[in-house]
Amino acid sequence: MSVPRPAAVIVLAAGEGTRMKSQTPKVLHEVCGRALVDHMLAAARDLDPERLIVVIGHALERVGGHLAATSPDALAVVQREQRGTGHAVRTVLEEVGTISGTVLVTYGDVPLLRTETLAGLLQRHAEEGNAVTVLTAEVPDPTGYGRIIRDDAGAVLEIVEEKDASPEQRAIKEMNSGIYAFDGMLLADAVKRVSTDNAQGEEYLTDVLSILRRDGHRVGACVAADFVEVEGVNDRVQLAAARKVLNLRLLERHMRAGVTVIDPASTWVDVDVRIEADAVIHPGTQLHGATVIEAGAEVGPATTLTDTLVGEGAVVRNTVADHAEIGPEASVGPYAYLRPGTVLGRRSKAGTFVEMKNTKVGERSKVPHLTYAGDATIGEDVNIGASTVFVNYDGVNKHHTTVRDGAFVGCDTMLVAPVTVNEGAYTAAGSTITDDVPAGAIGVARARQRNIEKWVLRRRAGTKSAAHAERALAGQEQEKQQ
Ligand code: UD1
Ligand code: CA
Repeated sequence: MSVPRPAAVIVLAAGEGTRMKSQTPKVLHEVCGRALVDHMLAAARDLDPERLIVVIGHALERVGGHLAATSPDALAVVQREQRGTGHAVRTVLEEVGTISGTVLVTYGDVPLLRTETLAGLLQRHAEEGNAVTVLTAEVPDPTGYGRIIRDDAGAVLEIVEEKDASPEQRAIKEMNSGIYAFDGMLLADAVKRVSTDNAQGEEYLTDVLSILRRDGHRVGACVAADFVEVEGVNDRVQLAAARKVLNLRLLERHMRAGVTVIDPASTWVDVDVRIEADAVIHPGTQLHGATVIEAGAEVGPATTLTDTLVGEGAVVRNTVADHAEIGPEASVGPYAYLRPGTVLGRRSKAGTFVEMKNTKVGERSKVPHLTYAGDATIGEDVNIGASTVFVNYDGVNKHHTTVRDGAFVGCDTMLVAPVTVNEGAYTAAGSTITDDVPAGAIGVARARQRNIEKWVLRRRAGTKSAAHAERALAGQEQEKQQ
């Protein structure tokens, strides 16, 4: 049996989430590069619902703005006052009208919930022809959750909130996940009849179950195979725990697809990261955003890449890169910092203590050590000597430097932009290059050296240097006399 298409998925996300102790609304906290609510929406979307609805209330502007930007397919319904989960659903139905078909209700703070689990719930709901089917789980510690009350035959009677439960009921380990499949027509009627006669004075969505049962409708339950999936995030400890579980899930998927992950415990990936087969990820690596690692590339250790492309067979060690493109078989690091707009050609190199920004490096060109390259175009087969600085900023404006194919920039060259070093040209080590260097020429821009004999003996008499110098000079005198 295929999974029945839900008429609507309603995601409840109006609560404040006080235990996060945060300026950021709970559902906007991120795990693996995606906000909590967006994880739920992604799982919901895979069920292909006719309507996707999110109930928002607390931090309306921020949550609403976020959803408008990231989920234009979702309808945000505002619940001004959070008067309970039942009230939240009633508010939706008052706004959009009765929804016929299956309505799935879930929360914005359960990022580990899998589409397969929701699909299983929908399937059970349809197979049994229930008015409502609740997703439950057996948990080691059910503190704080609503408990599932069953009769001797195992049929679900009702859900009792912790605060309203008797000591016997509290001993029950089967908890209410708060996720349900409803018959939309029956839900619309029952949700209006929910009272506020309970310990919290709220309209409990859980009461819809007992109302429907008393009306003579079928009430079912679907026990989740893994309780971890349905545990919500309420504080930052649970946020970290959820992140760890999700990260491991993502890494397992990559490993099964042929990626070597040396140490999953110290490797962190975002949901949208793509890694091709035979890539190797070393410990301490974080891959963020839309980062792509192509086949056979080696990344890490201790590397953080954001929205960065690493080409086939490239090697990237101890590096931080943001919005960079690293070409196939290129070599980066150890200790490189590639900022936005860095594009490294095939087999090129950005080596140790090299920082680049808005710089294109041609094929086979090398920038091996101690260099800052900003706003530059470097051609093919270029060598940039150690300690070269692309002096791109005059304090007001940024300027561009061009180093053309085959050029050889000597160590400790200051390339004062705007300037061009043409094809095959050299610069002498220690030069401050302010004028273009013609093709095949060498640019020399430094003072000639002048040695003042015996200066140290006169001006630094009595120092160790003077003593060493005296000895050496005496030795030279002796050799001359022999
Ligand atoms: C609810 C269930 C409980 C279940 C638990 C699972 C009820 C009465 N109880 O309890 O049986 O075990 O979830 O986590 O439903 N929300 C709104 N508007 C509101 C109230 C809540 O949108 O007016 C949203 C919250 O943002 C949250 C979710 O609904 O995401 C659950 O609300 P919460 O108040 O945390 O319910 P619990 O007390 O946890
Ligand atoms: Ca909760």
